[in-house]
This record gives sequence, structure tokens and C-alpha cells, in this order.
Amino acid sequence: MAEPATIDESPFPLLHLTPCIGTEVHGIDLAQDLDQAVIDYLSNLLVERKVIFFRGQQISREAHIAFAARFGELEVHPFTANNDEHPEIIHLNNDEAHPPYINIWHSDVTWRAEPSLGSILRARVVPEVGGDTLFANMEAAYDALDEATREAIDGLEAVHDNESFLNGMRANGASEEAVAAKRAEFPPATHPVVRTHPVSGRKSLYVNRAFTRRIVGMDTEASDTLLNKLYLQAWIPDYQCRFRWQPDSFAFWDNRAAQHYAAADYWPHRREMERVTIIGDRPR
Ligand code: SIN
Repeated sequence: MAEPATIDESPFPLLHLTPCIGTEVHGIDLAQDLDQAVIDYLSNLLVERKVIFFRGQQISREAHIAFAARFGELEVHPFTANNDEHPEIIHLNNDEAHPPYINIWHSDVTWRAEPSLGSILRARVVPEVGGDTLFANMEAAYDALDEATREAIDGLEAVHDNESFLNGMRANGASEEAVAAKRAEFPPATHPVVRTHPVSGRKSLYVNRAFTRRIVGMDTEASDTLLNKLYLQAWIPDYQCRFRWQPDSFAFWDNRAAQHYAAADYWPHRREMERVTIIGDRPR
């Protein structure tokens, strides 16, 4: 691997994956009780680079959780297979019998009233080749829209829902009563189409193909046409980076300003990941 490029002001060697998004941070042991100054530095780097990566972190699950908890309150995901001992950890395990399904651009849990600030994902088992995760800078995606579109979407709101998870419950044999109870507990959420980052004040596109359903106040055809145009902004390689996993690599992304896509090209081989999700604020 190339030597990390060092940025003068950084206390750690950094390796940028692309000019627009994604930086590997070297020289940090995530198992340590890091100084608040280091946590502040990483928070700022995350806001600037949208996703930061760490390699070779053979740390315990407790240390993974403890590191994530330095950045905010942690979520216990209401739908996924959580670890019994550590409910904050989601297991994302795929093999021949369990095909991957997260090969869709999204930001995590946007169907919640207060969606995620960020997610910290660890690779446990990686396929020999493939299974990369791609990330898109949604501030750059917003900036690149033509002025007429930026003006047209200013002030619009969109509805996000968890229908895909409810369908997953049905597929696993849950009763309609149980599905209805979950829907009542986690009703669809309405968020601005363009959100302003609570730290940087920068605007980003906050709609995604996985969870956004419609734009409030628009007929279905107009809403679908506009949403499809906006979703495609995440697909532009100029605003992306692509991370090649190794066992014990960690990725920490800013769900407020980035989307991600887990390539399913490795299937039917095995890939096992563990995610801890940090709760964020209500998008504005
Ligand atoms: C996720 O979408 O949270 C997981 C991404 C991945 O498995 O690469």
C-alpha cells in the first residue's frame, strides 16, 4: 500500500482516497481511551471528508461501542439482527444462503424522525475480492445541480419510510398485527430535501432511493421524476470514493452528508460486518 500522505496540520498520517471524499487515518488505536482533542479532531475530519477509515483495528466489540459512544448516543436498530450481548451492534452477514441487499444508495435510518449522525462499520470476514463499499459526498452532489434545480428544490420536504424493513418482517413470518405495531412505533418521517449540516452549515441532498418515497405536495409522477433525478446525483463517480475492506478495517461515515452503497459483487461468497450507529439530530 502507498505511504499515507501527511497533511501538515494533522496529528496523524492521512491518506485521501479521492479529492472529494474519504480519508484513511493512520496511527490511531481505537481501543485506547482517546483524548477529547483526538475525538474533536476526528469529528472535524469526518465533517470535512464525509467518511474516514482505520485499518488493522483488532479491537473488542466493547471497544467498538465505546469508541462510537464518544460521538453521541447509540441506536439499537429496531428491525435488524442485533447482537444479543451488545444490542448496539448490528450484524450484516451474507453468504450463499443470505444474499446481500444493501446494494442501493442510501443514508442510514432516514425513516426515523432523528436519523443517524454517523455509522461505524467493522469488517470481520471479507471476500477474497469484491464487497467494497462506495461512498458519495452529497454536498458535492447538491452543489453540482444546476441553479434552476437548486431553486426548485429549496424548501421542499420528502417522506421517508421503513417499508423495506416491514416487508422483511413479513418475509420472516411476522403477523400483520406485529407489522402494524412496528409501523405505529416508527411512522414515516418527513425531512427537507436539502438539509443543512448542523456543524458545517453546508447544504446537501437528503433524499435516497432506499427510504425516500415521495415529495410532499407533488403528484406521484412529478415527485418520481424529480426524485429519480436527485437520486442519480449519488451515482456520479466524481463525488465518490470506494473502500476495499480488509479484516478489522473500520469505516466511519457522516450520514448527514454522505450516502453509501455496499457492492454485492462478491456473492455467493461470505462477508461479515458489524455496525454501530450514532443517533443524530432532526434534519433542518
Ligand atoms: C450499511 O449499509 O450500513 C452497510 C454497508 C456495508 O456493508 O458495506
